[in-house]
Amino acid sequence: MTIKSENKLHELLRINDELNHIKDIDSLLDTILYETRRLTNADAGSIFLLEEDRLNFSYVQNDTLKKENPHNNKEIYSNFSISIDEQSIAGYVALKGKSLAIDNVHELSGRDVPYSFNCSFDEIAGYRTTSMLTIPLITTRGAVIGVMQIINAMNEKGEVIPFSDSDESYSTFFAANATSAIEKGKMTREMILRMIKMAELRDPKETGAHVNRVGAYSIEIFQRWAHIHRWKFDQIKKYKDILRIAAMLHDVGKVAISDTILKKPARLDEQEFKIMKTHAYQGAKLFKGNVSDLDDLCYEIAYSHHEKWNGQGYPRKLRGEAIPLAGRIVALADVYDALISARVYKDAWREEDVLALLKEEAGHHFDPELVSIFLEIYDVIKAIRKKYPDQHQ
Ligand code: C2E
Ligand code: SIN
Ligand code: SIN
Ligand code: FE
Ligand code: FE
Repeated sequence: MTIKSENKLHELLRINDELNHIKDIDSLLDTILYETRRLTNADAGSIFLLEEDRLNFSYVQNDTLKKENPHNNKEIYSNFSISIDEQSIAGYVALKGKSLAIDNVHELSGRDVPYSFNCSFDEIAGYRTTSMLTIPLITTRGAVIGVMQIINAMNEKGEVIPFSDSDESYSTFFAANATSAIEKGKMTREMILRMIKMAELRDPKETGAHVNRVGAYSIEIFQRWAHIHRWKFDQIKKYKDILRIAAMLHDVGKVAISDTILKKPARLDEQEFKIMKTHAYQGAKLFKGNVSDLDDLCYEIAYSHHEKWNGQGYPRKLRGEAIPLAGRIVALADVYDALISARVYKDAWREEDVLALLKEEAGHHFDPELVSIFLEIYDVIKAIRKKYPDQHQ
C-alpha cells in the first residue's frame, strides 16, 4: 500500500476531497486511518476520540491480524477509554497537543519520559507493537478532539522500522484536515440520533441503542455479503457510508403513529396493528423524490424493511430478490434486535430461542443467504451488542 513520495502531495489533496464527501463518522475514521497508514506504510493504527474528558477507543485497523482472520471485525467494537494524563502515550500527546514518534515502545523504561507503553492491548490482540507515531487531532480553534496512533512502519521487505520525519509531517498535515471532517461527521451522527429520538419520543431509552445496533449489524452483514458477491472495495466503502445512516433511520415513520399505539404495553389488536404497519410507507414518504444516494437508500429501507422473503410481508408483499438488498438486511438486523431486547410490549427472548427463530425463518421471513452470513459473523454481532447496551438495563 506504499505511495511514492512525489505523489504524496497529490494524494493528500485527493483524500481531502474524499473526506469531504463521507457522511458517516465510522466511515470517516476508517478512511482517515487507512489513508494515514498508506502515507506512512504502517501495519496498524487506531483512533481515540475525546468524550467526557476521556480518550475513547473509537476505531482500529490492523493488517497483520486481518490477514490471520479476515472476517473478524470485532476489535472495532471494543469499549475502553484512557484518561488524559502523562502516563499513557495517547494521553501525553492529547495533553501536550504535539505529535510523538517512538522508535521502539519496548525501550522506554530508563528513558526520562513520564509515559510508558501499555502492552495489554497487544496481549489481548496477539500482536507486537514496535514503532509508533501518535498524532493529536486538533481543530483550527486549537481544541484537541482526539488522538490518532499509527503503529509499525514497514520497509519494502516487510520489516518494522521507525517512522521518519517526513511520515510525521505528512501525517500531521493530513490530521488537520481529518479533524474538521471528524467534527462534521460527529455532528451528522448526533443530528440523526436526535431526529430518531424525536420520531420515537415515546421510547427514548430504547431507540438510541437499538438504532446504533441495527446500523452496525447492517453494515457488517452487508460487508460480508458484498465480499462474497465480489463488489469492488470503493463500491463497498461508499455503500457502507450511507447504509449505516439509512439503517438507523428504518423506523422514522413511527413519528406518524400515535402514542397510544406505539407505547401500548400489550399486544396490538388488529386495527392497531393495521395502523402501525403504515410506519413503513410513512417513513418512505419522508425521503421520496429526493436527490441523493442517501435519500434513496433511506427510502428503500423504510419502505421495505418489513417485507418477507416469502412474499408475506408488508406493505407491498414483495418477494425474494424483488426486495431491495438493504431492506432484506435491515429486516434481519431489526428482528434479531427486537427479539433479543426487551420492548414495552414484550420481554427479551433467550438467545438460543432467537437464533432458532432466525434459522427457522431462513427462506421464509429472511433471505437465507443473509441468515447464514449473520451466523457466520455472530462474534461481531455480539461485540456490537456489548458496545451499545440498552441504557435501562
Ligand atoms: P419492533 O419492536 O422494532 O419490531 C420489529 C419486528 O421484530 C417486528 O415487526 C417483528 O417482525 C419482530 N418482532 C418483535 N417482537 C416480536 C415477537 O415478540 N415475536 C415475533 N415473532 N416477532 C417479533 P412487526 O411485527 O411488523 O412490528 C412492527 C412494529 O410494530 C414493532 O417494531 C413495534 O414497534 C410494533 N409492534 C408490533 N407488535 C406489537 C405489540 O404487540 N405491541 C406493541 N406495543 N407494539 C407492537
Ligand atoms: C466507533 O466507536 O464508533 C467505532 C465502532 C463502530 O463501528 O461502531
Ligand atoms: C421502539 O419504538 O419500540 C424502539 C424503536 C424500534 O423498534 O425501532
Ligand atoms: Fe419497522
Ligand atoms: Fe426497529
